[in-house]
Amino acid sequence: MSRVTPQIIARMKETGHPIVSATAYDYTFSQLVDRAGIDLILVGDSLGMVIQGHDTTLPVTLDQMIYHTSAVVRGARRAMVVCDFPFGVCQSAKEVVLAAAIRIFKESHCDGVKIEGGESVAETIRHLTRQGIPVMGHVGLTPQSVKAFGGFKVQGREESAARQILADALAVEAAGAFVIVLEGIPSDLAGRITEKLTIPTIGIGAGGACDGQVLVLYDLLGLYGDVTPKFVKRYVEGAETVGSALEEYAQEVREGRFPGPEHGFS
Ligand code: KIV
Repeated sequence: MSRVTPQIIARMKETGHPIVSATAYDYTFSQLVDRAGIDLILVGDSLGMVIQGHDTTLPVTLDQMIYHTSAVVRGARRAMVVCDFPFGVCQSAKEVVLAAAIRIFKESHCDGVKIEGGESVAETIRHLTRQGIPVMGHVGLTPQSVKAFGGFKVQGREESAARQILADALAVEAAGAFVIVLEGIPSDLAGRITEKLTIPTIGIGAGGACDGQVLVLYDLLGLYGDVTPKFVKRYVEGAETVGSALEEYAQEVREGRFPGPEHGFS
């Protein structure tokens, strides 16, 4: 089975095939996501929230991203695997970012990296793409800027802010990114950007006009959070399902019904 490449992702925009993406953070879920035919697995720094239990993605380190990405790569046979740059790396000089990208590639064997930001990181994206590193862009509600945004708030509602997000997306495309995430922006703005760009857009909280969609795995499986954000669809109530399995296990152990004779060795 051949792996999805940046060229295949680009062609999907041309041919009108929606790109399907989800996050994963470990080997077992990576296998499940891959077997479900998801095209692109993002090892997002959202792991800081759904795996590590932080309020934001900011504490995640480069070592942690490499650790999780290498596990995901081992689970994926067809899907392209992209590793998110954690907060702090892309705020550094472009040479530092290139060195970090080289580490990510050598140690995790992934297929691309994702960088949050627009015009401010375009030069860095250009530096990486010129060295043959596939880059996924990410504009709009970029979670690493949550402190500047004053919370996880939809971006680009005012015309001047919308124009800036469009300029950011164009800068990311001009710098050589092969695909771009549009997060937390009005659906009509995402549609405008998708029409203007030649590279595919992948939306999250950006409506249905994008060339593809991405969701955080633990959100779509209903495993994370008491409140479901408006843009998330929970395809299974995973927390309930897993919770009742664990309760049944606990009850069976306490009542001496597990392990049964069939689970023992002679
Ligand atoms: O970190 C992440 O999971 C992301 C996606 C939600 C796009 O950046």
